[in-house]
Amino acid sequence: MVHSPAYRYYSENPNFKDGKTAQPPVPGTIARGAVPYPYANTIDEQKRAGRELVNPIGHSPEDIKIGKEKYAVYCAMCHGAKGKGDGNLVQSGKFGMPAPPLVADYVQNEPDGAIFHTITVGTVSGLMGSHSLQLKPYDRWRVVKYIKTGLKNE
Ligand code: HEC
Repeated sequence: MVHSPAYRYYSENPNFKDGKTAQPPVPGTIARGAVPYPYANTIDEQKRAGRELVNPIGHSPEDIKIGKEKYAVYCAMCHGAKGKGDGNLVQSGKFGMPAPPLVADYVQNEPDGAIFHTITVGTVSGLMGSHSLQLKPYDRWRVVKYIKTGLKNE
């Protein structure tokens, strides 16, 4: 105990089969604070998310206001400040394709969970990527709430 031999993190280590000191986490380990997202990026899974996930955001003006701010930062450049699909990136031609209008009925009629799913994993085609790193889950729900309540009236 007086001399406990410590291995440096990146050093070789004869005590493990793979000879490394830094061992990978045990399979199934979840980082503290991380919430696994159990839906794959397919249409069926998007529908399932729409049936199963419930938007935890009520109608607090504060939540909707934050949703609007996040929308302006992370979505408006493609989907447009008023959700018409005419954001700056689309208009400038730099994005190379239109973005769907989020005020359209077919988006507005989607369950909140399906829109949350699209923000979380992106679209199946990959043309819109995941925004899970930019927006924490609660903020994604706020954006969904804003899309369903405030966006149409902008
Ligand atoms: C870089 C441009 C870009 C950004 C940024 C972007 N989107 Fe998209 N989004 C697209 C495109 C393009 C599609 C259509 C892709 C497809 O059909 O595969 C799409 C599709 C969608 C759809 C699906 C509509 C449908 O057909 O059901 C939703 C909902 C959506 N986006 C919401 C958002 C939200 C919310 C944000 C911000 C968090 C966002 N998008 C950010 C380009 C973007």
